[in-house]
Amino acid sequence: MSAALALTLALAAATGAAPTYREPFRPQFHFSPAVNWTNDPNGLVYYDGEYHLFYQYNPFGDTWGHMSWGHAVSTDLVRWQHLPVAIPEVDGVMAFSGSAVVDWKNTSGFGAGGRTPLVAVYTGYREATKNQAQNLAYSNDRGRTWTRYAGNPVIDIGSTEFRDPKVFWYAPQRKWVMVVSLAAEHKLRFYASPDLKQWTALSEFGPAGAVGGVWECPDLFELPVDGKAGDTRWVLILNLNPGAIAGGSGVQYFVGRFDGTRFVPDPGTAAAAGKTGLDAALWADYGKDFYAAVSWSDVPESDGRRLWLGWMNNWLYGNQIPTAPWRSAQSVPRALALRTTRDGIRLAQEPVAELRGLRGAPQRIAARAISAGSSPIALRGKALEIVAELELGGASEAGLKLRVGRDEETVVGIDARSGRLFVDRTRSGQVAFQPDFTGRHAAPIAIENGRVRLHVFVDWSSVEVFAQDGTIALTDQVFPAADSDGVALYAVGGAARLVSLEAWPLSSIWPESK
Ligand code: FRU
Repeated sequence: MSAALALTLALAAATGAAPTYREPFRPQFHFSPAVNWTNDPNGLVYYDGEYHLFYQYNPFGDTWGHMSWGHAVSTDLVRWQHLPVAIPEVDGVMAFSGSAVVDWKNTSGFGAGGRTPLVAVYTGYREATKNQAQNLAYSNDRGRTWTRYAGNPVIDIGSTEFRDPKVFWYAPQRKWVMVVSLAAEHKLRFYASPDLKQWTALSEFGPAGAVGGVWECPDLFELPVDGKAGDTRWVLILNLNPGAIAGGSGVQYFVGRFDGTRFVPDPGTAAAAGKTGLDAALWADYGKDFYAAVSWSDVPESDGRRLWLGWMNNWLYGNQIPTAPWRSAQSVPRALALRTTRDGIRLAQEPVAELRGLRGAPQRIAARAISAGSSPIALRGKALEIVAELELGGASEAGLKLRVGRDEETVVGIDARSGRLFVDRTRSGQVAFQPDFTGRHAAPIAIENGRVRLHVFVDWSSVEVFAQDGTIALTDQVFPAADSDGVALYAVGGAARLVSLEAWPLSSIWPESK
């Protein structure tokens, strides 16, 4: 029996529910824990051939509580092997969100016998006092077992709103940098350290952008603009809850420069002008189910990608989604880039190329007119990747309908008049479990030559839509009936045209489900 299977069975025995990975709504190619609750991805780090995915996890139930770091590893970002809980709640202190790094130079001294330690930097949340302070844990065995640092906490400012440290090595000044959130003040604070243990405050950023809720789970990384190595910007990621563009939880970002001490937003941006508010923010995703996104540390330079994923849920209804015996999944991993657009420099996301390994035989739908109304096409599926190009023509609105069944459809539409791409899940299936779930979520989109190209990932309980070279993303959960697997084209107010459509069934990542 594999260790993963043994663990799955042990978990099942503990909870009384045996995961089959074929349960209604079980993501087939997204990571979800076998059983119980998850929220934020944590400690994303690559080391010795493995991508680590830690995640906020409740080992004892299917709603938020007893926060611990669950753990999975993958060699390809697609197929995940479940591992035992890495950092459990102990002595009334939960392990909240944070990051992990490879301490290549053993600056921390945690490396035993010449080994390279992995170091996790996380927020300890003491339930009795609500204090939030930054803590360390380390591993000398490729992340399989973790020891809490005896000198914890390493930063304690006596706050109840101080969390989610993201740490990276700042090579030009040979030091560690931490960005961490003063959540209720809408500020981020930067710290530096030679050894991950002693931290000195450097500067603060904020308030800026959207401030309608707490600031959580920051990240900061450098990316080339339009792929040119000589021209880079720093991207400051900031998760906001509630008050995001689609309501509730969401990810905003800022583009600027970082000199090892201070993040300065680019001149001409809303943040540089000191503006705050929903419209002063740039959004990484316009759907309602992409949150707490953070990037992988230590991806080898030979790979060169900046990779991330986000929690595919929303605090408005996260604890109520109708799934069992697990609750919540992570988005597909996405590669990040910066692109110059007519509006300025924007973050672009592309699902990782490794996902192509899940593709079955391609199915092509020939170019055709889409007359007003809905037209089913010869394509079905509940786990699908679709690349489609549509021409709006005389239609005021046109698009795809996914997960179509009797009285059910999830609409991915383009509204020509307002120049918006939207996902409408009002008739997607189960929507009534919480009043904030139902609805339509829209993003501004440039309709060039009357055409829009869509890249869509459909899973058993989610839809991820990428458009405009990845500068627009929409991630939404859906809970349709098991037999709602149709796909249709539609147009409103005139005829549109399908320029091209290629689709692939995607196979399940769970060997247990075969
Ligand atoms: C974000 C968050 C973090 C916190 C964690 C607790 O979703 O609220 O700020 O560390 O979840 O589970």
